[in-house]
Amino acid sequence: TARRPGGGGGYDFVVVANRLAVDRLTYQDGSTGWRRSPGGLVTALAPIMAESDGAWVGWHGAADETLEPFDHEGMHLVPVPLSALEVEEYYEGFSNGTLWPLYHDVIARPEFHRHWYEAYRRVNQRFAEATAATAAKGAVVWVQDYQLQLVPAMLREMRPDVRIGFFNHIPFPPSGLFSQLPWRQAVLRGLLGADLIGFQRESDARNFQRAVRSRLGLYIRSDQVYVVSEPSSDELGSSIAGHGEDPARGLGTRRTSAPEDGGHRISEARAFPISIDTERIVALSERPDIIARSQQIRRELGEPSTVLLGVDRLDYTKGIRHRMKALEELLAEKAVSPEDVCLVQVASPSREGVESYRLLREEIEATVGRINGEYDTMAHTAIRYLHHSYPVEEMVALYLAADVLLVTALRDGMNLVAKEYVAARRDGGGVLVLSEFTGAADQLKQALLVNPHDVDELKASILQAVHMDEEESRRRMRTLRRQVTSNNVQRWAQDFLNRLEELS
Ligand code: F6P
Repeated sequence: TARRPGGGGGYDFVVVANRLAVDRLTYQDGSTGWRRSPGGLVTALAPIMAESDGAWVGWHGAADETLEPFDHEGMHLVPVPLSALEVEEYYEGFSNGTLWPLYHDVIARPEFHRHWYEAYRRVNQRFAEATAATAAKGAVVWVQDYQLQLVPAMLREMRPDVRIGFFNHIPFPPSGLFSQLPWRQAVLRGLLGADLIGFQRESDARNFQRAVRSRLGLYIRSDQVYVVSEPSSDELGSSIAGHGEDPARGLGTRRTSAPEDGGHRISEARAFPISIDTERIVALSERPDIIARSQQIRRELGEPSTVLLGVDRLDYTKGIRHRMKALEELLAEKAVSPEDVCLVQVASPSREGVESYRLLREEIEATVGRINGEYDTMAHTAIRYLHHSYPVEEMVALYLAADVLLVTALRDGMNLVAKEYVAARRDGGGVLVLSEFTGAADQLKQALLVNPHDVDELKASILQAVHMDEEESRRRMRTLRRQVTSNNVQRWAQDFLNRLEELS
């Protein structure tokens, strides 16, 4: 609905993300409806949307289906259609077969296919057009994540009047790895279309700045990139199409001072570590039915003295195999026994159309079968493996039931599970074993920080967690809780949007 002249659809605040902020529900009678998505991002942004005439542009999750924009719980939703081939090439292909492994330190081998990139460019253009048609004159637009890195520049070209923020939820790789990307310049140019580019960690922002310096030769001072030679419509086409290198690349042509003619604009790139809806998790952790459920979980597991917990999307970045290898060795050495220690591993189904995810699932399930076959007794299991997603209430019950949370990701933008576990432990109990390769490790320094590649260190940390005396674990948890309670996702969103406002 065009509601105001002069600027697209008249919405003052527009969020753009690969996925829409609602999930489709199918009722028993076969009819369908929508429910607001449970994630922290939606929770943080929904109230801002309701206050400020907000819209959310995103894919509704089904292929080959075009839906009209609609309103839901104070949010205007603009569904972007994707064909089945685009799901394959843009989502499973370039987003999750190229960028995801490349940005996670090449844990899996990224594949570079020109037709995948072409679909990515085309879909990004479609998102940019839908956004341009939705945003009011002078609106604030906030683009989310690696699936949409070209959108800022594409949108700026169509709508120079809007303020554009971008937030990258996953790591940004070291410049040496990023350089493998055949379309590296186009991606950097795409991102630099934003006035503010947010990253999870300081090191991600630095990696981005280094790539911008070395690949585009632009001058950077105190997180501010001096963007010169805004790509014209033609250049943007060819640069974003990925053909040819920028002439100003390489050390020899790098700018060492700010451009003097004023013919530049500023794009700021810095860290804004995301968090969770802390108050919601705390409130759930105090609910008597959820506390009772946590006790029931322990009973159902046969009352082991220690419950270890892993909660991850079934993704090769999460180090699930490493965690299982460590446990298997501890069982083999009789350092732990299934009567005493049980690992509950929730592995929620993810990206099942991507081959590396299918292979990972087979491998994890074979490993669980082998370990349980070897060590289970009639009464106890070594690993209770659950290939499901659960509602947040059940997750909080699991957090309360678990003596130790194992986060062993090989690379992770942030890892919100670690923060949720800490938030849920208002009782002061629980030990967090946390990979140093997560964004969360920059903030949760009182966790037992581990290098998950070092199996011996991981085993030692698990044993340390299992045997930690209560005084030490409570002291650590107190400090961790201070971090998570004073930095929630609402504050994160506000900090980002305030900075975006200041910049313009
Ligand atoms: O931040 C990583 C991310 O890709 C998000 O964009 C997404 O919401 C989440 O992981 C789950 O992934 P997907 O949308 O591919 O199921």
